[in-house]
Amino acid sequence: MDFSTRAIHAGQDADPATGATIVPVYQTSTYTQTAVGETKGYDYSRTVNPTRVALEKQLASLEDAVYGSAFSSGMAATAAILNLLSAGDHAIVTDDLYGGTYRLFSKVLVRYGLTFTYVDMSDLAAVSAAIQPNTKLFWIETPTNPLLKLIDIAGVAALKPSGAVVVVDNTFASPYLQSPLALGADVAMHSTTKYIGGHSDAVGGAVLTNDSAIHEVVKFHQNAIGGVPGPMDAWLTMRGAKTLAIRMREHEKNARAVADFLVSRDDVARVYYPGLASHPQHELAKRQMRGFGGMVSFTLRGPESRALEFAKHTKLFSLAESLGGVESLLCHPARMTHGSIPKDERERRGITDGLLRLSVGIEGIDDLIDDLAGALDATIALARNV
Ligand SMILES: Cc1ncc(COP(=O)(O)O)c(C=O)c1O
Repeated sequence: MDFSTRAIHAGQDADPATGATIVPVYQTSTYTQTAVGETKGYDYSRTVNPTRVALEKQLASLEDAVYGSAFSSGMAATAAILNLLSAGDHAIVTDDLYGGTYRLFSKVLVRYGLTFTYVDMSDLAAVSAAIQPNTKLFWIETPTNPLLKLIDIAGVAALKPSGAVVVVDNTFASPYLQSPLALGADVAMHSTTKYIGGHSDAVGGAVLTNDSAIHEVVKFHQNAIGGVPGPMDAWLTMRGAKTLAIRMREHEKNARAVADFLVSRDDVARVYYPGLASHPQHELAKRQMRGFGGMVSFTLRGPESRALEFAKHTKLFSLAESLGGVESLLCHPARMTHGSIPKDERERRGITDGLLRLSVGIEGIDDLIDDLAGALDATIALARNV
């Protein structure tokens, strides 16, 4: 079945109790039993809730996965996945990744005896060199956040020692544009807060897999730790996901136009977008993805402080954390999303104080380009003043 059809119908059966066409918000923490232990499959909403189950079926279908688990945030989903590891295990991690993921790994999980090696995973030889006898997990983000580098998912999967798992944070691409499980990954995870939810009104996460043993561990920890979405957030995410395909097409169309516009400006130093023929991994992007997504990063000519000035002058691009909503957002990664990474480490990875990241929304493209042009023109004197 087509992606759009699955987005609208998977898990979305009419309500068995009332016939309601749209899955209801089952705003209940508990379920009445007819006799001790006699339930209709639902006993307590941390463990199971019908609205969440509908979302889990829908998201599993979008990733062509057998199993889906929904979480209260992307970070809760990540934490559940890391429970596949035990003290003494080692993980290889993309060095350009979401700052909160880095914080969880480097500040929390190391205290539990896990070790992490951060590698430029776009270099498969570097990945191979980092493998240790106790390597149990490979954490891939592709395209990476915020530098939009690509990692060859199938290439990493081919290097995986037996018993290890390859996880792909598929948040930036969305399941519409990239299918990690088909490329050999064991797990796809999402911050559904972003493109899947799509309207910046609910925080959530998801874990999708075809491996029943992995699913069992993730499900066990979903209940044992309890990072589950409330029914209303599950419902909002499910409603948003129904229009993922049509939104992604518009995000991508606008992002391509924004990237071309930025390239055309002499006062823009560098543009990062996998859809540009000049992107060093454009060929991999064409092979691995079904489109190039809605995120564009760039640096300006002039001092790095010009980025901060630029951020004061956009009117439609709101200066805000997050991405993937219908509205356009602008972010200064060094001070915002990636502020939890120490400055020297950040700079080593290329996340300079001059870098800006756009989540290109689905507004009219002429308005978005006018907005960016206005902010560039307002700060152009700085470009000449290096
Ligand atoms: C790529 C990526 N992964 C994971 C997360 C964490 O998700 P959440 O904020 O829903 O916990 C984010 C959040 O920005 C992200 O951008």
